[in-house]
This record gives sequence, structure tokens and C-alpha cells, in this order.
Amino acid sequence: MATALITGASSGIGAAFANELAARKNNLVLVARSEEKLQHLAQKLQEEHKIKVHTLAKDLTITTAAVDIFNALIEQNITSIDTLINNAGLGDYGLFSESQRTKQLQMIQLNITALVDLTYQFLPQMIQQGRGNIINISSIAAFQGLPYMSVYAATKSFVLSFSEALWAENSKTGAKVLAVCPGPTNTQFYEKASFEKFSNEAESLRLDNPSEIAREALNALNSESSHIVTGRWDNKVISGISRFLPREIWSKVLEQEFRPKY
Ligand SMILES: NC(=O)c1ccc[n+]([C@@H]2O[C@H](COP(=O)([O-])OP(=O)(O)OC[C@H]3O[C@@H](n4cnc5c(N)ncnc54)[C@H](OP(=O)(O)O)[C@@H]3O)[C@@H](O)[C@H]2O)c1
Repeated sequence: MATALITGASSGIGAAFANELAARKNNLVLVARSEEKLQHLAQKLQEEHKIKVHTLAKDLTITTAAVDIFNALIEQNITSIDTLINNAGLGDYGLFSESQRTKQLQMIQLNITALVDLTYQFLPQMIQQGRGNIINISSIAAFQGLPYMSVYAATKSFVLSFSEALWAENSKTGAKVLAVCPGPTNTQFYEKASFEKFSNEAESLRLDNPSEIAREALNALNSESSHIVTGRWDNKVISGISRFLPREIWSKVLEQEFRPKY
């Protein structure tokens, strides 16, 4: 049975990937900080799908996290990962000049450094075996600068660019690399990012469903795509606008749309 490792599996899109991969009969390694939530999900998936689920409670902003995970798996006799889902991420809303320095730096560490290092740990093995999948969660925020979420959007541009390059480098190795770009999705992301626009209930009804994103992403592994924009049709329009409008005009439109109300 194939084994998938999912970061940020304790909630939202990561938990949706865990459910979907379990239903597709993968053994799982679930990574996040919230040990209790991971264990609860692991127990449920083991009972429902008769698979093996390991949990690793790890803070991915710690610089050794990826190496620690790789070594912890060897200790548990998990010698190969067939699918790596680099999903853990966080955002922050507000003026960059007034933001918390530590939160911005942690975001870069989590959204970029941990993703690169986990890819570095597991990709060589996939190439050696001539098969494997890496799904990196980017965002429609990757396609342009996003005022008031400046560092977040830049981290997601990095994820898209990095993934596209690895997709091409590995076109003949058997290791597939896919960047997934969701639009606004119904998870705890906005609440944690202090972004009220999508935190209230009425707005949350308009958001994409994490389970549909997980399904769309896993199905896209059967295509030749380097990236996909998931969910509602307007996500596809928004992600394409910067190719047609002068970048300055689009940035100003976004600045007005996202400007804090306080
Ligand atoms: N929601 C959206 O609208 C949206 C849109 C586009 C892209 N995305 C991307 O989708 C991904 C998943 O986000 P989500 O929407 O599902 O939000 P979420 O519900 O807040 O999930 C974030 C996950 O990341 C984990 N995480 C956070 N900090 C961590 C750390 N230091 N170490 C290890 N794990 C950590 C969290 O677990 P613990 O707190 O237990 O550690 C949680 O499992 C992110 O990369 C996000 O940027 C989201």
C-alpha cells in the first residue's frame, strides 16, 4: 500500500487531503503541531478505511523539522513516501509596516523553508524509485502582489515558481510535481490570519469546500499540468487577470478591495 505524508493535516485542506487519500487506500503520515487533533483524525481514518496512520506532532518553523521528520520515519520503519503534500501554511492580514516581525519571518519559514526542505528530503527517493507525487499548496494569491497580505502572497508565488521548475526538471524521472492554487476556502485560515472579510458566516458560505480541493488536486496528478487553479470559476479569472491588465492597475484595484476598514 502506498504511503502519503501530509503537512498541516490537523485541519482545513490538509485534513481534507487525509480523508481523500485514506478513501483511496493510502497509508498516512500526518504532520502538524496539534497532537490531539492528529490522533483523533488518525483513529477515525484507521477505523473507517483499515489503513495505517502515523502522526508526528512537529512545529515546521523549527529549522531542523524536515530532517527530524525524515529520521523519525526511518525509526518507525517507514522507508518510502509515495505522495508528499506540502500543505501547512499561514497568512497574516494588515499593513506590512505595522505587522509583527516574528509572524512574517515564521510565515516564510513555514510556507517556504519547510516546504523546500521536505521536498529536498523526499524527492531523491522518488526519483530513484521512478515514481512519486509532490503536491505543493500555493494559492491564487501567487499570481500577483497582494496588498495587506504582502509576505503571504510572495511566499505563494515562491511555491508556484519552485513547483513549476521542479515539474519540468522531473518530466522524465517519474516524480510528479504539482502546484495547487486554491481561492478563498472554508477553513480556519482567515480567522488565524486576522482577516475578517471571510471569517463571518455569511461570507464563509461563498467559500470553496476543502474536500473538493483535495479531490481536484489528486485527480490532476493524472494530467500533465504543472499547476491547477481549483474551485469556483472566478478563481480562474482572478488568477489570469494580471496577464491582461497592467500590473500597477491590478495592484491598485486589489489595494482598494483589501484595504482594512479600521
Ligand atoms: N483557506 C484558504 O482560503 C486558502 C486559499 C489558498 C491557499 N491556502 C493554503 O492552504 C494551506 C492550508 O490552509 P488551510 O486553509 O487549510 O488553513 P488551516 O485550517 O489554518 O490549516 C493550516 C494547517 O497548517 C498547520 N500549521 C500551521 N502552523 C504550523 C507549524 N508551525 N508547524 C506545523 N504545522 C503548522 C496547522 O496545524 P497546527 O496548528 O496544528 O500546527 C493546520 O493543520 C495553507 O498553505 C494556505 O496558505 C488556503
